[in-house]
Amino acid sequence: MKVDVVIGLQWGDEGKGKIVDVLTPKYSVVARFQGGPNAGHTLEFDGKKFVLHTIPSGIFRDGTINIIGNGVVVDPAILMGEIEKLNAAGVSTKGRILLSKKAHLILPTHRMLDAAQEAAKGGAKIGSTLKGIGPAYTDKIGRAGLRVGDVLHPDFDNKYDALKQKHLTLLKQLSYPINIEAEEQKWKQSISWLRAEFTIVDSEYEINNLLKNGNILAEGAQGSMLDVDFGSYPFVTSSNTVCAGACTGLGVAPCRVGEVIGIFKAYCTRVGSGPFPTELHDEAGKAMRRQGCEFGSTTGRPRRCGWLDLVALKYSIMVSGATQLFMMKADVMDSFDAIKVAVGYKINGATTDRYPYEVDMPVEPIYREFKGWKQPISGSRTEKDLPQELINYVRFIEEQTGVPVKFISVGPDREETVLR
Ligand code: GDP
Ligand code: IMO
Ligand code: MG
Repeated sequence: MKVDVVIGLQWGDEGKGKIVDVLTPKYSVVARFQGGPNAGHTLEFDGKKFVLHTIPSGIFRDGTINIIGNGVVVDPAILMGEIEKLNAAGVSTKGRILLSKKAHLILPTHRMLDAAQEAAKGGAKIGSTLKGIGPAYTDKIGRAGLRVGDVLHPDFDNKYDALKQKHLTLLKQLSYPINIEAEEQKWKQSISWLRAEFTIVDSEYEINNLLKNGNILAEGAQGSMLDVDFGSYPFVTSSNTVCAGACTGLGVAPCRVGEVIGIFKAYCTRVGSGPFPTELHDEAGKAMRRQGCEFGSTTGRPRRCGWLDLVALKYSIMVSGATQLFMMKADVMDSFDAIKVAVGYKINGATTDRYPYEVDMPVEPIYREFKGWKQPISGSRTEKDLPQELINYVRFIEEQTGVPVKFISVGPDREETVLR
């Protein structure tokens, strides 16, 4: 059987949560493979709305096993809060979420280091979600991190104290005001809760066993343009968000990857700093933010908005080998007279269809313009309900990328979808 992978092809917040929820009935297992509580995945159904940060988006479908893989960084206090919220809403989680022993832990001091390091960067800050992601992955790669499996060992407290002391020294060097008690107490409670209540497993064995009997859906976080290798470095997150991250983040072989489902919005958004060639500062950008409710699911920050960028999209498709595309938030463009899409860039007077290495390069997008459909589409459920102008827009994207657009999302609810 295969692992199908859902990934964001832009700068995150493409609508991965909704899609994983929609696709879950076809899978017995949903697994997160990278990132951590910097993610905010929104699901809407039956008039209810949930935002998940660490828990896989398969949790609302009965009978699905949800796995938090080794590639994820976990803040146990946030995880505990998420579980409490779900349980309070009547969603059962007991025994339905497996947590990898090899996933790394985010400590309270990782979050402090994130804040201190961002503050030290001044105007060059990344715009991190301040969840401790960068410092936790730094310790992982530096072979200094604490892993979930460590909580089961008697020397855990000593290991924690040693790492905390190292962090406190760094925080002093950065002149960061240290007040750790309250956060640390909550964090330690969540560690006890993990030990007592959670199913901690050798997830790579579980996943490969489960794969003998059914297909698995791997749920990416962030987006390809935030990938630590292929994104606009250093304005990126600290993990591999591209499809390859699913192999290392779950322990599945590349030959087990089946469909690579690339999710993109009908336009673009980015939250945090870094290059965004098609960004709009005019009324059109404001209309996208207003109509798309483009405010961060994790931090509440307004998202930067702009036209669809085919240079960046084709780059993401190339790096991950997307086999099908899902277009999200088409309804946000309902009121636009014209819709633009970048098909190339002008850099230093020369035209290119490559995403540049330099993050400070002035890039002038070359646009192709499409007629808007000027009608509400959120009631559409089949392709024949969709206006011809939207179909033209979608066919152009297919032509340019060479990948079929299999799914068009016309609203936030799980039902507001058109399968092609
Ligand atoms: P994720 O991080 O990729 O899961 O995406 P987020 O949840 O951060 O952001 C996507 C937002 O768009 C959420 O508020 C979703 O409820 C919403 N959304 C998803 N699909 C659609 C759609 O087709 N139309 C509209 N209007 N909103 C959508
Ligand atoms: P989902 O999974 C959008 C951005 C931050 C910042 C950069 C680094 O909901 O799509 P980090 O906290 O990782 O150190 O921040 O990455 N970022 C996201 N942007 N959606 C996300 O996740 C993001 N996770 C991180 O805004 O620019
Ligand atoms: Mg999000």
